Amino acid sequence: MKETLTIIDNRTDLRYEVPIHQGTVRTMDLRKIQAGPGDFGLMGYDPAFMNTASCQSAITFIDGDKGILRYRGYAIEHLAEKCSFLEVAYLLLFGELPTAAELNAWVDTVTHHTMIHETTKKFLEGFRYDAHPMGMFISTVAALSTVYPEARNVHDPALRHLQMCRLVGKVPTIAAYTYRHSLGYPYVYPDNELSYTANFMNMLWKMVEPKYQANAQLARALDILFILHADHEQNCSANVMRSVGSSQADPFVSVAAAAAALSGPLHGGANEEVLRMLDEIGSKDKVWSYLEQVKAGHGKLMGFGHRIYKNYDPRAQIIKWAANQVFEVTGRNPKLEIALELERIALEDDYFVKRRLYPNVDFYSGIMYQAMGFQPDLFTVLFAIPRTVGWLAQWQEMVQDPEQKIARPRQVYIGSEQRDFLPIERRGVRAASSAT
Ligand code: SDX
Repeated sequence: MKETLTIIDNRTDLRYEVPIHQGTVRTMDLRKIQAGPGDFGLMGYDPAFMNTASCQSAITFIDGDKGILRYRGYAIEHLAEKCSFLEVAYLLLFGELPTAAELNAWVDTVTHHTMIHETTKKFLEGFRYDAHPMGMFISTVAALSTVYPEARNVHDPALRHLQMCRLVGKVPTIAAYTYRHSLGYPYVYPDNELSYTANFMNMLWKMVEPKYQANAQLARALDILFILHADHEQNCSANVMRSVGSSQADPFVSVAAAAAALSGPLHGGANEEVLRMLDEIGSKDKVWSYLEQVKAGHGKLMGFGHRIYKNYDPRAQIIKWAANQVFEVTGRNPKLEIALELERIALEDDYFVKRRLYPNVDFYSGIMYQAMGFQPDLFTVLFAIPRTVGWLAQWQEMVQDPEQKIARPRQVYIGSEQRDFLPIERRGVRAASSAT
């Protein structure tokens, strides 16, 4: 079978053979298709990259129709059940599951990078008491680039590795400090005797007790949530990480940019919006009328729908299981009943079925986080902690990819043709006349 596309340009009756490579055509191969001498040649036009591969990647595989998610070839279900988050972080960043010795060394390294510079703590003090934790998180991660100027040497493998260890170790600390700042509580230093998630809980919730005792079931549930949120191939924020990183910006400002993308309500900000939506619905019996509003085009069903998953998001299934583990400790979150009723009705309603809208990763995570004692405005920060690993894995792959260079898309220009300059005294006249 010939792996080529034969294109006949009806403008010129010329035929072109374009190679097909891994189910794609290189849009640069279209440039030879010209309307005539001097023509720029064809480009692909794909707003929001609905059907454009920006890279080749070996990190995460998703089959949206089959609801498959694999990190480096391993099924998310197996990793969530059998691994710790740092074990999965190692897999995503270095390509293989670690041996016991490798894992111990990795955990030890990350653990010894959990402290942040005292000047960075003072930087955090500058925020208003009611600053949104995500705004504080994004700004503080970016500020780390001023502490580690050597991070600009992105092509030095040893320095790249050091910055990745720093970021994986420090994002929970920064996240916890944004939370403590918003409550006016003193910051809690990391406790190196605790696991990654137990230490995060320590920095969030330790008060005056001499040593924080993390509930093991809650710590495990959080570890599983971190695994589920670690990477998701070329999602909006990963695309930003690759794009900003392609200019050879350092990994700290690149992660901050990716976190900024994640903060949007259509992306990682959705988990916070789900709780607001459930609060707005208020009770099970009001779910139906709320859905009628959505179907009439008044707003979206937050936590539903996905660009890739068109049957179900495998992460949502696992989160439902983990949520029950949490509720065994915390008691059921009353919002769960509203969410289950909303899911039940929506999955039977033609409007949502026809548009292939199913619960995504954000639908149940917020309910679980709230039951664990997190405030809704911290939910996206909780998403950013594990996704920092995914962003770094994507960034490192981009830096090492010989095909990649600075990202600079083209455009289709639809603006004015050349116009004569308009002196200031004559401006507005036309607008006034055209307005009449
Ligand atoms: C994440 O990309 C990733 O991998 C992201 C993520 C990750 O791990 O990184 O999985 C994390 O971002 C999960 C998504 C969280 N966002 C939300 O839950 C917000 C609500 N969802 C939607 O905004 C939407 O579903 C998106 C943004 C997630 C996906 O949007 P698409 O693929 O661009 O789909 P679309 O907007 O073109 O919608 C197609 C149709 C439209 O209806 P019509 O114009 O055809 O009539 O479906 C409708 C949309 O209006 N639709 C919804 C809907 N989502 C899509 N209608 C109601 N409620 C929704 N949630």
